[in-house]
Formats: sequence, structure tokens, C-alpha cells
Amino acid sequence: MAEDCCSFNKDSLIIKAPKKSPLALRMVVLAAVMICAVYIFSVCLKLIGNHRVPRIIQIELAEQPCHNPGIPQAEIPYVHYPEPTTYSREECACTPVRYFAILSMQRSGSGWFETLLNSHINISSNGEIFSAKERRSNISAIIKTLNKVYNLDWYTSASKNECTAAIGFKWMLNQGLVTYHEEIVDYFKMRGVSAIFLFRRNLLRQMVSVLANNYDRNTKQLNGTHKAHVHSRDEAYVLARYKPTINATSLIPDLRNTRESTTKTLKYFKSTRHIVLYYEDLIQNHTPCFLQKMVDVLDFLRVPRRKLVSRHVKIHTRPLSEQVQNWNDVYHALEGTRYENFLTADYKIFS
Ligand SMILES: *[C@@H]1O[C@H](CO)[C@@H](O)[C@H](O)[C@H]1NC(C)=O
Ligand SMILES: *[C@@H]1O[C@H](CO)[C@@H](O)[C@H](O)[C@H]1NC(C)=O
Ligand SMILES: *[C@@H]1O[C@H](CO)[C@@H](O)[C@H](O)[C@H]1NC(C)=O
Ligand SMILES: *[C@@H]1O[C@H](CO)[C@@H](O)[C@H](O)[C@H]1NC(C)=O
Repeated sequence: MAEDCCSFNKDSLIIKAPKKSPLALRMVVLAAVMICAVYIFSVCLKLIGNHRVPRIIQIELAEQPCHNPGIPQAEIPYVHYPEPTTYSREECACTPVRYFAILSMQRSGSGWFETLLNSHINISSNGEIFSAKERRSNISAIIKTLNKVYNLDWYTSASKNECTAAIGFKWMLNQGLVTYHEEIVDYFKMRGVSAIFLFRRNLLRQMVSVLANNYDRNTKQLNGTHKAHVHSRDEAYVLARYKPTINATSLIPDLRNTRESTTKTLKYFKSTRHIVLYYEDLIQNHTPCFLQKMVDVLDFLRVPRRKLVSRHVKIHTRPLSEQVQNWNDVYHALEGTRYENFLTADYKIFS
């Protein structure tokens, strides 16, 4: 078990050596196949017309100036060579870029997860860009924003240099993702975007975190500023002092709704390239399992394996019974139901 999990040092990016066969002939055949493919594709596009394929996407498909023989055929749809409008990718112009999106829900550890990814020299994840309503007010606004991000034209503190090899952002299910799922799945498939699902198994803990975060949004407990994430134990202690009261009447329907929206989204996106992660598997920081999961993510994004770090400190670390005001009500509401295990499934925090 342990050996399986601690494989950080092993050599990373696997580049397949091209087989030693008559290279020239292979190139001629390849070129012929590509010309044919482009021709057929352009004919198809004319036949289909502009009804199915949004125009913004068509333009992007034309530009592929770089070739990288080390990339397996099956990977080609997921490999991109963006040409940002405002700067040149310089010596990395032909460094392949993968597109990804972290699909998650509020208070599922995605902020922490994203800081881990951004500690990697080749990954840029640009935060919750669709928290701004006007960017998700209709599907064209969404596609315009996606195009800008994936063309490396979106600037945030996470933006890396021209050698970014994986570019993405964080997208909450309630930020237009479910509403426009058909068009977004089409876009992901057409442009080769990989989805990283990050959910939480214990939805009761997620609820406590949501309520506590809403409370702090109003009360601003840390010297008058609201903090969704903290970087010290002292700050975590202050925020964890508040014990929310949970509406025991609507608890079961609320949990059911949350679970349904995750299962629904997984179903919608099952035809895209994706990976599913659970916060509970990641949070056990520095354990073999955590390391293994993060290695899986880096491999999934096809970036070199590296150690990832985050300064985030977990806020709610105590047993749930100590973090809910009306624990008895909550306990009795869930006792004997399919959600019963949320009451007891506590995890140990290693640090
Ligand atoms: C990662 O970034 C470094 C530094 O910018 C660059 O030299 C390297 O080629 C990049 N690696 C990949 C796989 O893109
Ligand atoms: C979509 O939303 C944007 C931003 O809110 C707006 O400017 C644009 O007119 C809208 N387009 C359509 C087709 O409704
Ligand atoms: C709040 O203010 C106190 C005293 O000025 C300081 O010691 C503490 O570090 C501050 N905390 C935060 C979260 O800024
Ligand atoms: C609890 O939920 C029920 C059902 O949704 C609602 O009628 C009631 O007003 C809620 N109670 C509180 C205190 O919010």
C-alpha cells in the first residue's frame, strides 16, 4: 500500500519515443491524412452550417501550428497551443497546454485544492470567475469568458508565465454550470476541456461550513473583514467558535437536494474527460492517500509530478456534535435515515 502511494520521486512525464521506421514515409502519410482530414472537416462544417457549431468555436479549431510527435493520438483533442492576443508565449509557444475546470460546490475544499494546484509551476487556476453574474447571464457570455481563459488572456494573480501547461478555473454548480449544462458539455468535448469534480462526502459538514461562512460574511469576525479561508490556527479558532443552528425540519430535503445536484451533474458530464475527487480523501494532509490523489490529479493534467503546498488552515476540526448549536435536533432528524453516517463519520486531522 505505502509504496503505491509514495511515488512522488519517480520520473514523471512519459514521452513516448517515436518508433524507428522510415521517418520520411511516415511524415508523407501523416501529412496526406491531415490534409484529407482538414478537407473533410471543412466540407462537413459547410454542410452542417452554423446551426450546431457556435462560430466562436470554429475559429479556434483552425489554428494548430505546433506538432509534437511525443503526444499519443488519443491525447490530441486535449492538447492546445493558444496564441494569447496580448503577449507572445515565446520559447513555450509549442509547449502544449491542457484545459481544465474544477467543478465543485461551495465549502467543498476547492479553494484549498486550487491553492495546491497553483503552487505547481506549470498550472494556472484562475479562481471562481463565474461568481460575477454578468459573465454567466447567458451562454454566449459564458463561452466568451471560457475562450478568453483558455486562450491565456485572462489575468489573475494565478496567471503564470508563458510556460503554463495546464490552464483552468473553479466553477460552482450553481454558477450557470447546471443551467447551461448541454452547451457546456458540448464546449468541453469540442475544445478538449477536462473536468475535475471535487465534492464532499459528508454533506452535513459542508452545511455547517456554509452556515458558518454566511455568518462571517455578515459579522466579519476577523478585525472587520470576512474571510472564507484562513492562514493561521488563531484565525481558524475565531471562525470555528460560531456554532450554527441547523433547520432540522428542512434538513433531509436540503441534503437530498445537494446530493441530487451532484449526481445530476456527474451524469451530465460523464461523456467528458473527467476525474472525481472527494474532499475527505484529500484533507488527510501528508498521508499516503493524499499524496496519491494529488499525483493522480497531476497525471490527469499531464503535468510533471511535484510537491504541492498550500497555506490554508482548516477551520472546522472538532467533532460535529461540538460545532452545531442544536445537535440533539439534528441527531434525531438524521437517526435511522440514509444520512445517518454523516453524524458519526468524523475524520482525524493530521498535521
Ligand atoms: C514548466 O515550467 C517551466 C518553467 O517555466 C518550463 O521550463 C517547463 O518547460 C514547463 N513544463 C511543461 C511540461 O510545460
Ligand atoms: C449576454 O449577456 C451579456 C452580459 O450580461 C450581455 O451584454 C449580452 O447582451 C447578452 N447576450 C444575449 C444574446 O442575451
Ligand atoms: C486583528 O488585530 C489584532 C490587534 O490589532 C492583531 O493582533 C491580529 O493579528 C489581527 N488579526 C487579523 C486576522 O488581522
Ligand atoms: C425551517 O424549514 C421549514 C421548511 O422549509 C420552514 O418552514 C421554516 O420556516 C424553517 N425555519 C426556520 C427557523 O428558518
